[in-house]
Amino acid sequence: MAKTTKNKQPIGIFDSGIGGLTVANAVCRALPNEEIIYFGDTFHLPYGEKSADAIRYYCIKIVKFLLEHNCKMIVIACNSASSAAYHTVLDFYKGETIFVDVVNPLVDAVAAKEYHKVGVIATKATIGTGIYEKKLLAEQSDIEVVSMATPLLVPMIEEGFCNNDISESIIKQYLSNEKFDGIEAMLLACTHYPLIKQNIESFYNGKVNVYDSTDVVTTVVKNKLAKKNLLNDQKENAHRFFVSDFTPSFEETTKIFYDQEIDLEEKKIWA
Ligand code: DGL
Repeated sequence: MAKTTKNKQPIGIFDSGIGGLTVANAVCRALPNEEIIYFGDTFHLPYGEKSADAIRYYCIKIVKFLLEHNCKMIVIACNSASSAAYHTVLDFYKGETIFVDVVNPLVDAVAAKEYHKVGVIATKATIGTGIYEKKLLAEQSDIEVVSMATPLLVPMIEEGFCNNDISESIIKQYLSNEKFDGIEAMLLACTHYPLIKQNIESFYNGKVNVYDSTDVVTTVVKNKLAKKNLLNDQKENAHRFFVSDFTPSFEETTKIFYDQEIDLEEKKIWA
């Protein structure tokens, strides 16, 4: 297949806010020729506390915005959104672009290891769907999956409490729950949590394998674009980062999620 101008089109990445920047970061590092259009729905943050219907409605509108920017691929860089709305946007925008979610790549990576017992931590919205249990059990019927909503972690991370005494104590409180006794792997099923992966790994002291979705999602992005011959060979435009509600504190917080300084542009898609 010959290369077309489609290769030059950007990759859209979105999240409820800035957590998906952990995924954007990994994609930018692995695919430096790609241009990213990021959208953080800070107006509705946190999705973790919203209903599945509300999240589906937000996602449909955000995808429309990204399609207006000609995105050749759209990555739903939020577990709450991926679990509630992946199939909705696939159906609604059938054939209009390539979609990547963050749940399936993580499930596939973990299922390949054939563990007996794994833990999942995520927002209330993600845990409420039971998506990780359902998908892991569909892959491996004898796996035991224990899940827990950990709602303090997102605000904690956004306030910059990562890998310090306070985050260590909150993480310990959650992970010491006896339901997690005997797990071989812990899945960080929220795109904010890579920022506290080090804390979580220290808690387990090498006895439990800790997974997040950044690298596995990046691999799926790369493979899907390569398969359709849509990888860009030269980046021409700068990345753009939009939020639906701008505050200087969000811009400040982006520094912990993304390697480089970011200028956030406000796009009031809900006005
Ligand atoms: N980053 C989002 C996720 O992966 C959580 C943030 C939120 O609650 O909006 O689920």
